[in-house]
Amino acid sequence: MAIKKIGVFTSGGDAPGMNAAIRAVVRACIYHKVEAYGIYHGYDGMIAGDFEPLTGRSVSNIIHRGGTILKSARSAAFMTKEGRKKAFENLKKHNIDAIVAIGGDGTFTGAKVFTSEYDMPILGLPGTIDNDLNGTDYTIGYDTAVNTAAIAIDKIRDTASSHNRLFFIEVMGRHSGQIAIHSAIAAGAEAVMIPEVDLSIDQLVAILEKGANKKSSSLVVVAEAGKTGRSMDIAREVQERFSHYDTKVTILGHTQRGGTPTVNDRMLSSRLGVAAVEGLLKAKRGCMVGIVNNKIKFTPFEKAITKVNKLNKELLHIAKVLSV
Ligand code: F6P
Repeated sequence: MAIKKIGVFTSGGDAPGMNAAIRAVVRACIYHKVEAYGIYHGYDGMIAGDFEPLTGRSVSNIIHRGGTILKSARSAAFMTKEGRKKAFENLKKHNIDAIVAIGGDGTFTGAKVFTSEYDMPILGLPGTIDNDLNGTDYTIGYDTAVNTAAIAIDKIRDTASSHNRLFFIEVMGRHSGQIAIHSAIAAGAEAVMIPEVDLSIDQLVAILEKGANKKSSSLVVVAEAGKTGRSMDIAREVQERFSHYDTKVTILGHTQRGGTPTVNDRMLSSRLGVAAVEGLLKAKRGCMVGIVNNKIKFTPFEKAITKVNKLNKELLHIAKVLSV
């Protein structure tokens, strides 16, 4: 069956570059003479029938904007059979032949279940700041988020050094230390705590004491690792046991999710958006579209969401060497 209408939606945590991806999908549809439909609020909107045709004009002036014009949600309703049935009925009602889903592992888990139940071609674009998916070197939003984090850490360095303080800076990454390790090295932090590596308080303090002879202030980047505020617990324990430190905590939180996407993110979104539409037209389905070694790659959803440790061990060594 020829694809005449493609639906696009964003889902899960928003990520800078999602708008650029929506734009690329819509413009690629126009180029290939396919109608584009926006589905608002992720899977929730699919269930509620919150659909709207998208034109070239709908996506003008959004390539540089953070957030997502289509809104986003983490849908509980789509986890139910009834929810998915309603979603399929709405897609059929609007004559949607195929979908581009922009999101992370939750989005692709939903897409995988949906395509096993219903005949609906779906391709996914990796949209999450966490950079925790297989089948792509980078996810949309990660580059912007890691730059936001590094710039914030630079600012904290100024005040940390003025007051001789030990700062814990918490960055996002639900199960992934990607933002943490890269921003820590880029901003010259003394230590980094990531979910992929166990580091006890004693080991952390040993690293800090090693540098303390030379340094008056220290920065420790902590990945939230599924518990926002984890850095508070760590800072408290360090302060209690090593009272000579004047500890402070900064949680960067959702600042990392907003803002103008970097050129890298806009390029990634633009390439992936076009590849997704052209992939659907060539009968690709059930895959996430990513870029590996500068080449477009299609990875089945199942594989894309399998938990693997993307941590490059060399970076641990670099962080250690550079924090002497
Ligand atoms: O998955 C992206 C992410 O920003 C994670 O780093 C973080 O753990 C989570 O989303 C926060 O989600 P929410 O905005 O729903 O609190």
